Amino acid sequence: MALGRVAGLEIRAVTAEAVRPLRHRVLRADMALESVRTESDDRPATVHLAAFDGDEIVGVMTVFADPSPLGDSTAQRIRWMAVDPARQRGAIGTALLEAGLAIARKRRAVSVWADARDTALGFYERHGFRPSGPSFIDPETGLAHTPVVLDLIGDRA
Ligand SMILES: CC(C)(COP(=O)(O)OP(=O)(O)OC[C@H]1O[C@@H](n2cnc3c(N)ncnc32)[C@H](O)[C@@H]1OP(=O)(O)O)[C@@H](O)C(=O)NCCC(=O)NCCS
Repeated sequence: MALGRVAGLEIRAVTAEAVRPLRHRVLRADMALESVRTESDDRPATVHLAAFDGDEIVGVMTVFADPSPLGDSTAQRIRWMAVDPARQRGAIGTALLEAGLAIARKRRAVSVWADARDTALGFYERHGFRPSGPSFIDPETGLAHTPVVLDLIGDRA
């Protein structure tokens, strides 16, 4: 079932196995394949989203329940957002994020959060997220990240 569409692409829910190759290629190509596998991937309520161009996956994202650093126990977390480098800045990330936010709203989450790579901070800010703490170095990748949060209260239908 399509959860969203952008420029001829379809957003669909897929398995954890399906999102890992693009996760690895875009986010951790210099690390082991194992590095893009996490415990939260296999929780029953975790949703893995993929943007399909025909049979090809060109963007991925994962959304799951995780209390926010600001203490929201209802929060949903966005992680592993990755768009094929040849397709970046073509609205695929936006379509994935919107599908993830729709899931969070359905789950009655009060907020959605992410640890944004500082290089992608503008993407999250563009979608209304705000920094919720200082920038830090992720110990696994050595890259600077900033926690960001989007309040969903007030935009519920
Ligand atoms: C970050 C990423 C997921 C965004 O997806 P995308 O499809 O490229 O983004 P969109 O085309 O939907 O961008 C929408 C808007 O967000 C903003 N934006 C997107 N990427 C940005 C970036 N890296 N820096 C600053 N602003 C950005 C822009 O305002 C953009 O609109 P514009 O292209 O008209 O200027 C994608 O570029 C990506 O995979 N980057 C590499 C991996 C990564 O950093 N992932 C996030 C880890 S937290």
